[in-house]
Amino acid sequence: MTKTLPALLLTGATGSIGRRLAPALGASWRVFRASRTAAGEGALDLDLADPDSIRRSFDAAAPKVVIHAGADSDPDSCEQDPDRAKRVNVDAVKTLSLLCGASGARLVHFSTDLVFDGERGWYSEDDAPRPLGVYARGKLDSEEAALARAPGAAVLRISTAYGRPLGGRPGFVDALRARLAAGEPVTGFTDQWRTSTAADQLPEVIAKLLADPDLAGVFHWGGAERATRFETAVAFARVMGFDERLVRPGRAVDARFASPRPRDSSLDSSRLAAALGVAPLTYEIGFKALQGAWR
Ligand SMILES: NC(=O)c1ccc[n+]([C@@H]2O[C@H](COP(=O)([O-])OP(=O)(O)OC[C@H]3O[C@@H](n4cnc5c(N)ncnc54)[C@H](OP(=O)(O)O)[C@@H]3O)[C@@H](O)[C@H]2O)c1
Repeated sequence: MTKTLPALLLTGATGSIGRRLAPALGASWRVFRASRTAAGEGALDLDLADPDSIRRSFDAAAPKVVIHAGADSDPDSCEQDPDRAKRVNVDAVKTLSLLCGASGARLVHFSTDLVFDGERGWYSEDDAPRPLGVYARGKLDSEEAALARAPGAAVLRISTAYGRPLGGRPGFVDALRARLAAGEPVTGFTDQWRTSTAADQLPEVIAKLLADPDLAGVFHWGGAERATRFETAVAFARVMGFDERLVRPGRAVDARFASPRPRDSSLDSSRLAAALGVAPLTYEIGFKALQGAWR
């Protein structure tokens, strides 16, 4: 007799994180992949800006678990259109959280290291957020909505992610790799610290988190080390066999972004690491796993 798997609604299924989660979660869950452009088996048409669309997707999936990886994830586009950012990144989470709360579905909501102002760095879950821009403020509001309206919800704050190229939005390693492979120089900020998340590790993290219903509240998942963007780019060049001298130092304070960026939003991930028995990756190990990924 075929066993019926429990239903899981994955928003942001076409995004850089969702593309990694969907196939991995399929072993234990009947995954409904929702977004505006999701296609194929298990795809649901979802517009996060439209509450009715969210309700329709939720009803169609009747999920036991919702992984909310859908968002306008670009801080600069959010800064330029705060009304749309609020609808997509905050109001949608309110709607989704209410649906989870009413049905008893467990919610795992993705958030960001950018909820911190970056003045100190190596933030734990106990540190007070102080978001600097529209995107970051919205993500903090969305965290609060998820925790207040969906009992048992888990909020997973991740840092600038990198991973194998899967055809979604290019990440920072895709841009680095393209320029370094062409022998072109790249600029790495020496005044911006991050603990980049190895995105290909997230399926394991999420699977273990889902296996433990007691894991509720806010959790951090970055890399094992805090490094400047410059140090990160040099490590990437070295591990991937490119000329490290192509990485030139630059300063974030001299760059112009529509949305302000924290100096040091590095995350301490030790709490979740201990709870799951999974170690966050060093840059060396995370980048080694990408050797040969861009053929
Ligand atoms: N990747 C990172 O470095 C990073 C760092 C910190 C936090 N995060 C957070 O992690 C989560 C996943 O990020 P990601 O990197 O996978 O983002 P992404 O690559 O930009 O993908 C965003 C996803 O959201 C969907 N989406 C956007 N607007 C939508 C709308 N109006 N209605 C329905 N779906 C919509 C997109 O699908 P369609 O275009 O098909 O609709 C896509 O699947 C987000 O919450 C993000 O804020 C990511």
